[in-house]
Amino acid sequence: MSVAPCPNPQAAAAVRPRVLVADDDRVVLKAVAEILRRAGYEVTAVEDSVEALAAASEPGLDVAVLDIKMPNVGGMDVLREIKAKRPEVEVVMMTAFATVETAVAAVKAGAYDYLTKPFENIDEVVLTVQKAYERKALLDRNRRLEGMLEVRDRFEGLIGQSPRMQAVFKMIAGVGYSSATVLLQGESGTGKELAAQALHYKSPRRDKPLVAVNCSALSETLLESELFGHVRGAFTDAHSNKRGLFEAADGGTLFLDEIGDISPVTQVRLLRALQSGEIKRVGSDEVVRVDVRVITATNKDLAKEMIEGRFREDLYYRLNVISIQLPPLRDRREDIPLLAHHFLGEYSARMGKKLLGMEPEALEALGAHSWPGNVRELQNVIERAVVLAQGQSVTAADLPASMQGKRELEHERGATSLAHLPYTTAKRLAVAAFERRYLTAVLANANGNISMAAKAAGVDRSNFRRLLKQYQVERYAASAEETEAAGRDR
Ligand SMILES: Nc1ncnc2c1ncn2[C@@H]1O[C@H](COP(=O)(O)OP(=O)(O)OP(=O)(O)O)[C@@H](O)[C@H]1O
Ligand SMILES: [Mg+2]
Repeated sequence: MSVAPCPNPQAAAAVRPRVLVADDDRVVLKAVAEILRRAGYEVTAVEDSVEALAAASEPGLDVAVLDIKMPNVGGMDVLREIKAKRPEVEVVMMTAFATVETAVAAVKAGAYDYLTKPFENIDEVVLTVQKAYERKALLDRNRRLEGMLEVRDRFEGLIGQSPRMQAVFKMIAGVGYSSATVLLQGESGTGKELAAQALHYKSPRRDKPLVAVNCSALSETLLESELFGHVRGAFTDAHSNKRGLFEAADGGTLFLDEIGDISPVTQVRLLRALQSGEIKRVGSDEVVRVDVRVITATNKDLAKEMIEGRFREDLYYRLNVISIQLPPLRDRREDIPLLAHHFLGEYSARMGKKLLGMEPEALEALGAHSWPGNVRELQNVIERAVVLAQGQSVTAADLPASMQGKRELEHERGATSLAHLPYTTAKRLAVAAFERRYLTAVLANANGNISMAAKAAGVDRSNFRRLLKQYQVERYAASAEETEAAGRDR
């Protein structure tokens, strides 16, 4: 093996993908090992299954290429053993007697793909190993993301690694111990409610109630009676005495959501309650002392509401002792993969699906979206994707069409204008559009694996490849082509 001199061979070795090749046929073994070495892999070549198992137990292995037929322990058993002990290692099987049964059995036992000997084209070996390695790298990254999440990017229920979210976490931790009022501001879906919960659970009041009320959902009279309670006969429907939420939250926290929507009259009553620490039930003169920390939230610009006269200035300053701004998701895109993986884990567990992660194209599409609905929108998109996902990971095809890039939109626009074309031309275009979508979907189901997609479509591999080229299913096929090119360039 020729290795270019490197000042730090250890570092060089760490970045080179490691492949184990096992075949009792020395000619094949040498050829495969050599082509993979030339493609930039660090290769361990062994002639029998016992050695293969020993080599597979060494740390750092990425991909194993195993002959199905080996003396003593057969390749299928080696595959099962590796998958049991090192599930993260991707395995490619080689067989001289390719039947659908062996292929299915190998894939069922956890193999990534299989190769048929003699190889039609030696590049096929490099391409398959390359794809297996990419898959492993993707899953490693997912595992790392999940691992990272445990350590420093989670704060109560809030997730975020961006400097802006880290600053929010710090702020919440810093003011948790005081009883000062906090105003949470941010667009819809940025996590204001979660932040209110975090504030409560980080405070000494955590064992007392956290009472939340959505101020915009209630009429003025109802909101007042909800907040302060009422006595019997205070108004038509007041058939009995009722304790208000201020009293219910005594010793704890009262979270007033959508505070920007409260009426001028309620603003006055709220201000009084905050200034005096006392409330009066509606229809009563009796004063009740309460010890309540008030947290408010709004997706309005409260300062602007105040300047324009819709929100009392004195109340504004009273509520805004500490202000925390939840940044929109588009301003902290580095949080998107973390959040996406978090929701992916949550929904796949809930739906009993075994999804391992997200394809790079899917993550890319998420990263490019503007997220007007912020984290809530992302959560909904991932929930939908988990429902739709067919393979082991979420692909771009599982995302809403509007996120799938320009091609989809071009196609939709094309479809609407078909009526202006002659029938034969329109039909040809419609069929082409269908074929393209069909190929994309089949590929997505097969996680981008051309052999598997071809099999699923009942088309032989070379014809399938030709169709991919013809219909330019770039989103998936192009990645395969790039992979191939990358494999050759190495
Ligand atoms: N940083 C985050 N980490 C994890 N989940 C989050 C985060 N931010 C928001 N979410 C989730 O997104 C959804 C919306 O969050 P939340 O209800 O707190 O937003 P909001 O700012 O109160 O929105 P609105 O103004 O519409 O009431 C919730 O399901 C919440 O769990
Ligand atoms: Mg909210």
